[in-house]
Amino acid sequence: MSTTNKNEDIKLSPVVRRRTARDIALRKGKEPIVSLTAYITPMAARLDDYCDFLLVGDSVGMVLYGMESTVGVTLDMMIAHGKAVMRGARKALVVMDMPFGTYEESREQAFRNCARVLQETGAGAVKLEGGKEMADTVKFLVERGIPVLGHVGLRPQSVNVYGGYGAHGRSEDEWQPIIDDAHAIAAAGAFATVLEGVAEPLAVKLSKEVSNPIIGIGASAECDGQILVTEDMLGLFSFNPKFVKRYAEIGTGIAAAIEQYAADVRARKFPSDDHTYKMKKN
Ligand code: KIV
Repeated sequence: MSTTNKNEDIKLSPVVRRRTARDIALRKGKEPIVSLTAYITPMAARLDDYCDFLLVGDSVGMVLYGMESTVGVTLDMMIAHGKAVMRGARKALVVMDMPFGTYEESREQAFRNCARVLQETGAGAVKLEGGKEMADTVKFLVERGIPVLGHVGLRPQSVNVYGGYGAHGRSEDEWQPIIDDAHAIAAAGAFATVLEGVAEPLAVKLSKEVSNPIIGIGASAECDGQILVTEDMLGLFSFNPKFVKRYAEIGTGIAAAIEQYAADVRARKFPSDDHTYKMKKN
């Protein structure tokens, strides 16, 4: 594509092709798909070069707003964060998580809210939690132009039913409903499916036999891709779930920086000469 428009002297910045849901779907069984959550512009800009897709997760409620679960997250919160992420990401597909209560009632409700989210944010896909019971809705959305990322296994929006965030499928007699869910969502046309918090042998089996890419979180390295909450893997919180590998310790880094800042302010060492404006020389 040309980077110069009809007006010869106006040079446009190079066009970058953003990844699509279809690009992700075509990666089944190929190079692993890399994804992370993002909620704000500067983080999205940092992640964009390395990730195939960024998820504006409803985990934003717990990570940025200190909520106890994702149940209280609203559509307006998601849209605000989706717009922020779209301002930072140029290459990665941006996927918008649909919050609790905005898609489960009927496929029409789901279409209305998903369409609003895509129109107002410019993101390229939505994510819905749910298995067999959501398959009809997923099909309805996909047939009407809305790419859907599924989410089966542990579904955080159902925490009030499960009573916690424990792993699923740790005994084989729990496997069948999860297997049925993953197949139903793939058959409905989801371009990929997040598989969260399940025993590793079940994740390996599903990655082999389900037709769309399986994106693991607390699942298996054999999945078609991986996703983590960025702030978890960067070590912002002291609590660390078993499935999170911490690639940095920004929480302790922040604490050390703030301690030093407070000490400098109290000792009148900050601002120093380097950080103050001098008078202009005449
Ligand atoms: O909301 C979220 O961040 C998610 C991921 C953990 C998959 O759903």
